Amino acid sequence: MASQVDGADTMQKSFQSVSDNFGGTLEDPLPFYRQKMAEGPVMKGDILEVLGVPPIFGNARGRPVYTLFRHADIGAVLRDQDTYTSGLIGEGLGSFMGTFMLTAMDGAYHRRMRSLLQPCFMPAVLKEWRESLIEPVVRDEYVGPLLAKGKADLIADIGLGFPVRVIYAILGFPDDPKGMEVFATMALKILSGPKRDPEAAKQARIEALQASQALHDHVLPLVAQRRADGSIGNDLIGRLLRSEYEGEKLTDEQVTDFVRMLLPAAAETTTRTFGSLMLLLLERPELLARVRADRKLIGKAIDEAVRYEPVATFKARETARDVEIAGTFIPKGSIVSMVIQTANRDPAVFENPDEFDIDRPNRPHFGFGYGVHMCIGLFVAKAEIEAAVNAIFDMLPNIRLDPDRPSPRIKGVGLRGPEAVHVVWDAA
Ligand code: HEM
Repeated sequence: MASQVDGADTMQKSFQSVSDNFGGTLEDPLPFYRQKMAEGPVMKGDILEVLGVPPIFGNARGRPVYTLFRHADIGAVLRDQDTYTSGLIGEGLGSFMGTFMLTAMDGAYHRRMRSLLQPCFMPAVLKEWRESLIEPVVRDEYVGPLLAKGKADLIADIGLGFPVRVIYAILGFPDDPKGMEVFATMALKILSGPKRDPEAAKQARIEALQASQALHDHVLPLVAQRRADGSIGNDLIGRLLRSEYEGEKLTDEQVTDFVRMLLPAAAETTTRTFGSLMLLLLERPELLARVRADRKLIGKAIDEAVRYEPVATFKARETARDVEIAGTFIPKGSIVSMVIQTANRDPAVFENPDEFDIDRPNRPHFGFGYGVHMCIGLFVAKAEIEAAVNAIFDMLPNIRLDPDRPSPRIKGVGLRGPEAVHVVWDAA
């Protein structure tokens, strides 16, 4: 697989390309959304198209698109998976990732497959991975080597690598740094697949499909070998191979496809969330000091960062019947596109919604999704980010934003996060 990636094709370049692809035409689209919301809670049309971002559902293919903004309306859609289905996701991003794509499954099939996969991600499993794998990887391989430098870019030097490295280790893949980088680059190429411009889309589609096939061809023999070796081990592949629900087990192809969708789902999202959280804390030195002194607050800070600056800014569903939302008639077969940023900052649910407040009462937000498709890797993501923040607090004394660099900003329409977070600390 390594031969398919030339030297310059680094993870960072691919990360930048994903940022450019989903960046859109506004750095901070929230004021624009609010302007649209003032015209009514349901907008006829696709706001992503207005902002130049490729939709996760692919081409609307003549189906009408409606955009929702309010917490109550979006919550009702995400709770009702029979009326608002997810299959359309398989036409967009999912079309690059084989047929076993959890986010694109509906109804009883999704329930069965989720029941097979869910036990592999429960907190007890996480506890084991956290101590034996996540914490040492983040501490020894990412934060530790930086100590003497006194400065770093938290994205390029830590955030880009550790989520991929952790997933690679959790999967139980052989320790092979080059293989891992290639693996990650492929995953980012898949994410660059959807494009607005039809000409760019053709080329990107070819590259995304090649990357996806290469990932599949890399993973399938490893999975088959693990089964041949007796499906043992407490890593994710071992657990997936042994998992059983109502007499059904996953095939090698299904495990391979799941692994292939895992990297795009797990890496990019964790990188950007880690970056946004660190930036939100670094911009508030008093809060940073409070969280550093009381590490139990890291979990709350992660949750609030995912509410305040969700990386996955949109959800999409298709109507399985005629519906009415907030007085607007929406025919069967329409696409409902949901703006997570406005829902997560809806004043009807969150007091002072534009404040980053880790002490706010616990109310459901949609940064990790909601309903049956809620993020299955939630505990993995939280454990990884917590491990990274802890290692940074323990090992990089007096960490602060680098005064010689421009202030970092959280930006983007389709995916949000900072592109770089340059920091300095008191090196020994
Ligand atoms: C901070 C990091 C993360 C964020 C913000 C995030 C966000 C989300 C969101 C919003 C969804 C819902 C999609 C929908 O409703 O259509 C989702 C689903 C999913 N996530 Fe995550 N995710 C993160 C990390 C991870 C990690 C680390 C993993 C795996 C280890 C993972 C695996 C998945 C999978 C497999 C689904 C599909 C679940 C289903 O459709 O039933 N995610 N994630």
